[in-house]
Amino acid sequence: MTIALSSLSLFVATSEQVAASRRRTYVNWGKGMTEEEYLARDAFTDKHENAQNGRLITWVLAPRDNPTSVEAFVSSCETFRREGLVWQQSSLKDSPRNETGYGIASVFTPSSLRGNGYARHMMRLLHWVISDEKFLPKDFPEAWGTPPSRVARAGDGWFSALWSDVGPEFYKRCGPTFDQEGWVVRDAVSTIWDVPHESPNSDDEAAPGWTWLDEAEVLALWEKDADHIASNLNLPDNFQASFVFLPNKGVAAFQHRRNQHFLDQLVPRNEHWGIKAEPSTSEALPSTFATWTLDARGPGPKTLLITRVGSRPEDFGKLFEQVAKAARRQGMEKIEIYNLPEYLQSVVGLGMTSPRDEHLSAFKWYGEEKPSQVAWLLNERFVFCNSDDLFADNLRCYRYCWC
Ligand SMILES: *[C@@H]1O[C@H](CO)[C@@H](O)[C@H](O)[C@H]1NC(C)=O
Repeated sequence: MTIALSSLSLFVATSEQVAASRRRTYVNWGKGMTEEEYLARDAFTDKHENAQNGRLITWVLAPRDNPTSVEAFVSSCETFRREGLVWQQSSLKDSPRNETGYGIASVFTPSSLRGNGYARHMMRLLHWVISDEKFLPKDFPEAWGTPPSRVARAGDGWFSALWSDVGPEFYKRCGPTFDQEGWVVRDAVSTIWDVPHESPNSDDEAAPGWTWLDEAEVLALWEKDADHIASNLNLPDNFQASFVFLPNKGVAAFQHRRNQHFLDQLVPRNEHWGIKAEPSTSEALPSTFATWTLDARGPGPKTLLITRVGSRPEDFGKLFEQVAKAARRQGMEKIEIYNLPEYLQSVVGLGMTSPRDEHLSAFKWYGEEKPSQVAWLLNERFVFCNSDDLFADNLRCYRYCWC
């Protein structure tokens, strides 16, 4: 039985509903893990800065007259509140400004309830609780009943992003009103290399002048990176506004913490999440560095995913050699990087650059500017969240029967 959309609304999940929504998603997304392991992974990432202090919220689309029931909600999703920076042509002199952005994860409707437009409606309502109040459209669509209640720990959003596994159109149709767009895909491009075979005299050591980075060291690097971004990025020519998510506060670290279960099974144990060239002073952000996570869960090729990169073109080849060493040591078959900056494209060697058909990076800008006037800076892997699917082999089913 289809429930009228106007009798549903968006609510912050109770802790029982959070647990129920995770058990529901396990059915489709838990491949390679027991339910216990799957729930333990969320419990593990819940403890980190990325999710703490109310930054992670699970939302449910539920009947207005039964909002806390663990059975009656029809769809769920998660939002991660994140620090970002914003540049606007209209107020360039005091930029950048520190503003809030959201990463959106785990958009889900159980298979028995799909085909009723619930996920779409949940996503349309989501804008009304995460966007900064001053950007909300004047009128809430009458056909949807009354607007969802805003809560203190959400809101203030200038932008939000998700990574679609259901193509570019679905989320675009999820705007805050009937005639406004939702999330639009931007620069969903990857460069992928085969991990080069070992040359006879190579070993696992970093070359002189290079240092592997362990967990504590990548966290420190992302802190410096955040400050560096704040003082060095800008509004690109031909755009009216730009935004960036910052890599610190657990955002970039989420990329490997999320995979911990699979990473624990790697032999040898992986201890490095990045490499840097020694900077001239110990305080400065190294001018050449890369950080990564490993995707070892299959069924696709085992891949080292570069999460952040900083390099001049002339240093990139050398940097890549070090990254390839790390990939080889862990038995990775591919190296992938999202949206490799144009100035590094010329030195990619044998890498293949092409549009992705999964994890399509898409954003919604809440300010006045049109999406085409807005630049997403550092649209790299470090900001990724699994928005609607963990496994590419579920893709076909989702394309046809999901929404
Ligand atoms: C804004 O964020 C950047 C990057 O984290 C930081 O360096 C700066 O101090 C922040 N500014 C304010 C006013 O909080």
